[in-house]
Amino acid sequence: MSASSLELFPDGTGLEDGALTVGGVRADALADRFGTPLYVYDAATLHRRARAYVEPLDDAPGGGRAVFALKANPVPAVLRELRRAGMGADVASAGELAAARLAGFEGSELVVHGNAKSGEDLEAALDARAALVVLDVAEEATDLARRAAERGVRQDVLVRVTPDIAVDTHAKIRTGQAGSKFGLGPADVAALVPTLPGALTFRGLHVHLGSQVVDADTLGSTAAWCARFAADHDLSPEVLDLGGGLGVAYRCGDPSPDPRAYAAAVVASVVRAFAEVGRPVPELVLEPGRSVVAPAGVTLYRILTVKRSAGTTWVAVDGGMGDNLRVALYDTAYAPVLAGRPTATPDGRYDLCGHHCESGDVLAHDVGLAAPRPGDVVAVPVTGAYHQSLATPYNLFGRPAAVLVDGGEARLATRRETVEDLLRREVLDPRPAGSGAACAQSPPRTPTATRP
Ligand SMILES: Cc1ncc(COP(=O)(O)O)c(C=O)c1O
Repeated sequence: MSASSLELFPDGTGLEDGALTVGGVRADALADRFGTPLYVYDAATLHRRARAYVEPLDDAPGGGRAVFALKANPVPAVLRELRRAGMGADVASAGELAAARLAGFEGSELVVHGNAKSGEDLEAALDARAALVVLDVAEEATDLARRAAERGVRQDVLVRVTPDIAVDTHAKIRTGQAGSKFGLGPADVAALVPTLPGALTFRGLHVHLGSQVVDADTLGSTAAWCARFAADHDLSPEVLDLGGGLGVAYRCGDPSPDPRAYAAAVVASVVRAFAEVGRPVPELVLEPGRSVVAPAGVTLYRILTVKRSAGTTWVAVDGGMGDNLRVALYDTAYAPVLAGRPTATPDGRYDLCGHHCESGDVLAHDVGLAAPRPGDVVAVPVTGAYHQSLATPYNLFGRPAAVLVDGGEARLATRRETVEDLLRREVLDPRPAGSGAACAQSPPRTPTATRP
């Protein structure tokens, strides 16, 4: 493994007897102890990357808050580390809200999202006394206000505006362009804010342009857009939430924007932009997900087979699209290494595939590896975001376990999903079709005499 490919792995990654260590623990030992596939998260990297957002926001002139977007990684043990580092939580469902609560977040630390929130989602937000609910559509304001009024409470809200800024990222994760399913166009926001029902208190605006955006300047330019929008419509947002979206490098040589520099630049541009339009500087909220957790994660697999087929050598591992959907969804290119000999000179080019029944189940194309053999452990860096959260049990392979590594110690964060877990939800109706599954629980009927 060259010095440059080490950069993709979490802080403190090293070598012991030529083998990869993460968080001071040998990767092959983790695979032996916890099984594979295995998500590994490095606590020190989580902490450092969280602080890279928290510190500049703490110093923001109008106040600031970094809230972690749980969609990137909802594992409570990971969330607990991020909360310790000073982050709040951005949740997009009642389920994510429950995970945040399990990790110890208070309602006052929660921002609640969702482009189509159900009654259950809204009730969960109210139950938790969430600090902010981000409204995505006018009907939601009516629904939330009715539910808040029934409880005799007021709910602080932001309104999500879609500024029609199209960022350079994969189309599937671009959200700020006109016609997006997220948020409301500027005119609709301007019309909604003055008519918000009494049980809702307008606190400010929310914008999120998209994810895996490596052009930090474009991402930061939303501050100026929001200041102009506020001035044009005589709005005084006390809070400005500019969402998440900062990208990371998945391979050596990819652009790798620095979260701390980005957060500091956004703080400065909010101050400048609101001064220019003569409005008070709002409190700034950022909702990073990927840029906090992606580089803290490594996924370990065991090689099952190596097969040559018409010029391609397929290295098949015991995971795949079930634990990493990102290649199939976004064509992401990863840089795997062999955990036991990451610095050995490659003897050829290999395609790394999974064990699922899809030709698209590929983890990496055309990578150099040193004579990979069945039984070897493969380590894939930058897998801490949108891996565990997007995992599926396709082919009824249970989802992987996850561990946190910290200063030479490893502890289980998520236990492996078993076939029993998967089948536990299934309902087998022993009665013939059409006889009514609902009656299956009823005691057998006593026959009654037929009246003439
Ligand atoms: C509203 C909102 N906030 C924050 C995020 C987190 O984005 P990222 O993981 O790119 O930082 C997302 C992701 O799509 C989002 O939709």
